[in-house]
Amino acid sequence: MLGESETVLTEKDVLAALKGVKDPDLGRDLVDLGMIRDVRIGDGKVSLAVNLTTPACPMKAKIEADVRQALEARLPGGLDFEIRMTAEVRGKREAENGDIPGVKNIIAVGSGKGGVGKSTMAASIAFGLKAHGASVGLMDADIYGPSIPHLVGASGRPMAREDRIVPIEVNGLKLMSMGFLLDPDQPVVMRGPMLHGIVQQFLRKVEWGDLDYLVIDLPPGTGDVPLSLAQSLPITGAVVVCTPQEVALLDAARAVSMFRQLRVPVLGMVENMAFFDVLAYLQDRGGPTAHKLVEGKSCFDEPGDERVYLFGQGGARRKAEAMNVPFLGEVPMNVLIREAGDVGRLESALQEGSPSRPYLMGVVEHLAAQVSIRNMKNVKMPKLEILN
Ligand SMILES: Nc1ncnc2c1ncn2[C@@H]1O[C@H](COP(=O)(O)OP(=O)(O)O)[C@@H](O)[C@H]1O
Ligand SMILES: [Mg+2]
Repeated sequence: MLGESETVLTEKDVLAALKGVKDPDLGRDLVDLGMIRDVRIGDGKVSLAVNLTTPACPMKAKIEADVRQALEARLPGGLDFEIRMTAEVRGKREAENGDIPGVKNIIAVGSGKGGVGKSTMAASIAFGLKAHGASVGLMDADIYGPSIPHLVGASGRPMAREDRIVPIEVNGLKLMSMGFLLDPDQPVVMRGPMLHGIVQQFLRKVEWGDLDYLVIDLPPGTGDVPLSLAQSLPITGAVVVCTPQEVALLDAARAVSMFRQLRVPVLGMVENMAFFDVLAYLQDRGGPTAHKLVEGKSCFDEPGDERVYLFGQGGARRKAEAMNVPFLGEVPMNVLIREAGDVGRLESALQEGSPSRPYLMGVVEHLAAQVSIRNMKNVKMPKLEILN
């Protein structure tokens, strides 16, 4: 029997021990955010779950380490701690007019102009979020130049189910594109109002189901489609893809301004084709002599010299800073991205061992964090009473 003076560890003690441990992106206490779940105490063990706001959280490892450290420092010695990292993607708190039922977040991917890799980024973002375990849809809103089906290797005609359209699915990714409704070399000839109609059908008639994220590949520029989208549904935010050339940055700035005018939050800017990594290329494609050079590290004097910044370095990051937009990362030019896209296997650019993976995943995780930051911004903190 326990004497009265002996203290029994309770859930409150565990939560109190975690006071001050913050989610670095959200800048708030994990306890206040309701992220500490399923606290169990017994047999010399404390187990709990940290329920993150996205499975693609870039701070996962740090949060886990911070939680462990706080528990070890503040709870009695000799206990075992079991920390499970879980995630549940949060949407915004309150429903709004125009929401798609079941879809928590809508991410529009735009660019100032074509050919900057916007579709490649949109598809990579969708694949990356899915790889982290989120449920994801990818809608190709580039009605005149649909390229998503080609990039991800999807084909077929979407089926109708009653008055709904069933999206095409590739490895669990739900897809809709004008490309599924046309023959490959059939041109799209239509006026603005028809364009609006198609976009609305893609949004409202497609059976998207429950999605954590719906990624939308916008057409390049600042035309009808972004306007039509922004007016008809609440978009969580937009990503602007650009390349490093000075002129491309000007176009990107215009895209950022457009989203601001449309009251679509800008989640961040991505610099695609930022540089070319000569060493990575030689490792991948070089012959025996090149390999010897690469292994001997005698190619270049200084680390970093292997990166060729053809169009200058850091331009997009500076532009993002100047416009007060988060910078989501650089993605280098890599022949594997182009080849994978051409044969409909873009997903392989994100797989383990691909030289592009760390860059693409970096963008995906930074973006997921920005979505969470947006959603948690206006959340009022519940007053949790913690008794010591
Ligand atoms: N980082 C990259 N490295 C190499 N090739 C790329 C990269 N990003 C895009 N590409 C290639 O550039 C071309 C244009 O990309 P795409 O995504 O279709 O651009 P957009 O949608 O902006 O018109 C495609 O052939 C694609 O494979
Ligand atoms: Mg495109």
